[in-house]
This record gives sequence, structure tokens and C-alpha cells, in this order.
Amino acid sequence: MEFNIITIFPDFFDSFKKESLLKRAQEKKLLSINVYNLRDFSDGKHKVVDEKPFGGGLGMVMKVEPVYKAVKAIKKKKTRVILFTPRGKKFTQKIASEYAKYDQLIFICGRYEGVDERIAKYVADEELSIGDYVLMGGEVPAMAVIETVSRLIPGVIGKQEFLKERISKIKGRGGNAFVEYPQYTRPEVFNPKKGSSWKVPKVLMSGDHKAIAEWKKKRGKVIGK
Ligand code: ADE
Repeated sequence: MEFNIITIFPDFFDSFKKESLLKRAQEKKLLSINVYNLRDFSDGKHKVVDEKPFGGGLGMVMKVEPVYKAVKAIKKKKTRVILFTPRGKKFTQKIASEYAKYDQLIFICGRYEGVDERIAKYVADEELSIGDYVLMGGEVPAMAVIETVSRLIPGVIGKQEFLKERISKIKGRGGNAFVEYPQYTRPEVFNPKKGSSWKVPKVLMSGDHKAIAEWKKKRGKVIGK
């Protein structure tokens, strides 16, 4: 799996790429994260990537040509070109498992007040939002999608058995939904201040595997329906 990010802020991804699990996954050649500076695809001395909107209006608009050129240069294999915008379809666990089937994903990180509509219409395959709120651009959404999709690539998150245990077998969900249940570790009782006692549920200390499994099922929340 190849993740390709087109951005005017490539430095955003420096530490993200070096984060332990993603770093190890890249070293193991399970995935690669390639960051492209949009300015490298713009003509002229000044590397202009945005201009004033036609018809007037506030702020600047991201130009179509550099984005088109960048996508053309990167595109190969079985790919999906995704433009991040708050008006796009909402990202879910289900969409992540669809993305995990591609060889290559290309992310266009919009910035400024907007992008030329022709990017959405002709360059991108789809517009994606990570939630009903407005961020400063597509860089944080790109990281959210990369983390979510990476976890689904076998070998990326070490303990495959652990992953399997949490995969819901609920019908019609293709095994891609996750059960997220509350977890505890030592100490069994924590008394942060006088009169308070934060305890671990007794069932988890019981050694009764059947009762524990039932508790997990009952308390678990299914993510990615
Ligand atoms: N760009 C700005 N806000 C966004 C959001 N919520 N999702 C995706 N891209 C965005």
C-alpha cells in the first residue's frame, strides 16, 4: 500500500512518518508514505499555487494545474484520488476497509479558503470529510485516514490475534467492524484522594473466561457498522 500526500505543508508529516508503528511498517515494506510539495508542480519562479477567486470574494483559491500535474505524476496501479473537504462524504471504518484494498491512495490536502472546483470535478475520484467541522486544511484528515487504513494492513499492528479478537462477527458487516470494550490494568484499586476508590470491575479479576467474554460483549461498542 502506497499513501501519497499532496500538500503545501510537507513538514507536517515529518514526525508522523517517524512514529513507531508507521515507521516499522515502512521498514518492513508493508506500506510507504510519500509526501509531495505542491509547489514543486507549479510553473514559474514564484511557485504560485493559489490565486484570487473569479467573480470576487475573500481570500485565495488553490489552483487546478499544479494539483493536476502532481496527481498525473504520482498516479499508477489501482488507485483512488481523494480530496479532503468538509463538504465531502463522511469517513468511516467501512470506508477505511474499502481503501485498504487499493494499491495506492492519493490525498489532496486543500488549504486556504477553498480549492478550484475543477479539482473536485475532474481530478479527484471523491471528496472526503473526517467530520462535521471545519479544519484549516486536509493535512490532519490525511493523517487520520492513513492511521485508520494502516491498522487494517496485515502485520502493521503487531498482535494480529488481538486484532482478530476484536473483529465483530456481526452479520453483514464483513468482519470489518470493531468491538471496543473498556479495558483496565494494574492497580486493581486506585485511591487518588481521600474518600475515592476507583475499582476494576470484579468480573475481570475472576478468572472466569466465559463470564469475562460475556462482559466484554455486553460492554463493547461496535465501531464501523
Ligand atoms: N478540510 C477542512 N475541514 C475538513 C474536514 N472536516 N474534513 C476533511 N477535510 C477538511
